[in-house]
This record gives sequence, structure tokens and C-alpha cells, in this order.
Amino acid sequence: MTASASVSSDATSLGSIALIGGGPGDVDLLTLRAVERLRAADVILYDDLAGDEILSFARPDAELIAVGKRAGHPSPRQQEVSRLMIGYARLGKRVVRVKSGDPSIFARADEEISAARAAGVPIEIVPGITTATAAAAYLGTSLTKRGVARRVQMVTGHDLNGRLPADLDMAALADPGATTCVFMGKATFAALADKLIAQGLSGETPTVVVESLGSPSTHVIAGSLTEIAGRLAAAKPLGPCLILYGAALAGIGHDKM
Ligand SMILES: C[S@@+](CC[C@H](N)C(=O)[O-])C[C@H]1O[C@@H](n2cnc3c(N)ncnc32)[C@H](O)[C@@H]1O
Repeated sequence: MTASASVSSDATSLGSIALIGGGPGDVDLLTLRAVERLRAADVILYDDLAGDEILSFARPDAELIAVGKRAGHPSPRQQEVSRLMIGYARLGKRVVRVKSGDPSIFARADEEISAARAAGVPIEIVPGITTATAAAAYLGTSLTKRGVARRVQMVTGHDLNGRLPADLDMAALADPGATTCVFMGKATFAALADKLIAQGLSGETPTVVVESLGSPSTHVIAGSLTEIAGRLAAAKPLGPCLILYGAALAGIGHDKM
């Protein structure tokens, strides 16, 4: 079913909304609580990054609604997704909204939480494994390292117009003692790398791109900060990419298909 389902908002019974983290795509990385909510759901709203296998936990009579970009179809606006969730909950349905990774990381959960609260609909958040930590596990590394990486930062490489955000804290991002995880950054990483190097971060900083984690086509490109920007531009990866850089990633020096 598509997101164009007609939902009335004047019903009186009140259901609920669970915003669940779908993790990086591997179904066995879902939490037990997420699986429970999926099994109990009357309606599941999901997007493409959440992974199809997750839907195997749905009841046969559950309504499944795609609300992400898929196969070139435009995704519904955020307000429309919130309207759908709230509309179904007002019909007394247990609504599950699946987000990829963790709902609190670059997933616009704040907007859905505010909309549900404003509508007086109970909303529960079920955390998931963010791509950042799932990528570290896949790479067999740690994001923090004693004496090497004392902090981890997550940043978006993408503003509302798809450009590198103009207000990034470049001093923080060029901290050689941090591991930085760049979400939504594949198109802007070359510009970011130039700024990082201009800010004083070494061009030799270990950098890793993880594409389509949790799928059979997971692909890793590893190299220096200077090399990766050019290799990304040449490879033009189609899948979602998380880009990590920092000294903690030293030793992940080869491509992995
Ligand atoms: C809208 S954000 C969602 C982040 C998600 N909430 C999380 O905690 O991982 C989408 C970005 O997350 C990263 N991402 C999500 N799923 C991914 C995957 N399976 N493989 C690699 N990167 C992924 C990419 O940077 C993508 O552009």
C-alpha cells in the first residue's frame, strides 16, 4: 500500500505510536522490544533504508505503508507522514513507524514526536543500533581508542538544499583526537575534506566509506582523507554511505567487497 491511504482524524478511540529503530538493516540486530512492537502493530510505516526483512515480523493483516523514497517515487513530506501516523492512531490502531538505525540520529524523530504530542497521541521511542556503531562492528574496530580517540562525533554532510552545511564547526571536525561519522555526506565529502585539511587535519587521516551496510552489497573503501574524496567521486556509490575518519580507523587499509 502507498502513503496515500485515506485516514480520517475525527475518530474517537486512541491508539498509540511506536517509533522504532530498525538498525542498520540486519534483521538480527533489531532489539527484542522492536520485534514485539512490530508483531503487535496494526499499521507499519517504513522507509527504504529500514530494510524489507524487518517487515517479516508484521502480522499478515497489518497494513504496511511505504513512506520513503523508493524506485524513483517521491517520498511523502514529513508532515504527511506525521498526519498518517496520527490519523491511524486516532482510529485506535497501534502504529509502528520504523526508522533506519536509531530514531534519535538524523531521522527527524523530533518532528514526529512533537506532532504526536501536540495531537495528544501516546508515542514511545524504541532505540536501534545506529549505522555508526554498526559500521564499527562491521569494520572490526572501536570508535574510541585509549590515547588516540577520546571522543566520537556524528555530523550531517547535507543541509536542506543538499549542500555541505555552512555552519559546521570546522575546528571540532578537524580534531585529530576524535572519530567523526559523517551521515548523508557522500556528495559533499570532497568539499568537507578540503575544509578539514585547510583547518589543519592531516590529509593522511584514516578514512573509511561504508556503503549499504547490512545488505549483501556492503562495500567498503578505505584510504587517507586526501584519497577518499577522489575515490568517492570516481566510484559514485548508489547505496547509502557512512563516512568515518580519524586515527582510530588506522589499519583498515584495504577495500572489502
Ligand atoms: C536519514 S540518515 C539516518 C541515520 C540513522 N537514523 C542511523 O542512526 O543510522 C541516513 C544516512 O544514514 C547513513 N546510513 C543509513 N543506513 C545506512 C546503511 N545501511 N549503510 C550505510 N550508511 C547508512 C547514510 O549516511 C545515510 O545517508
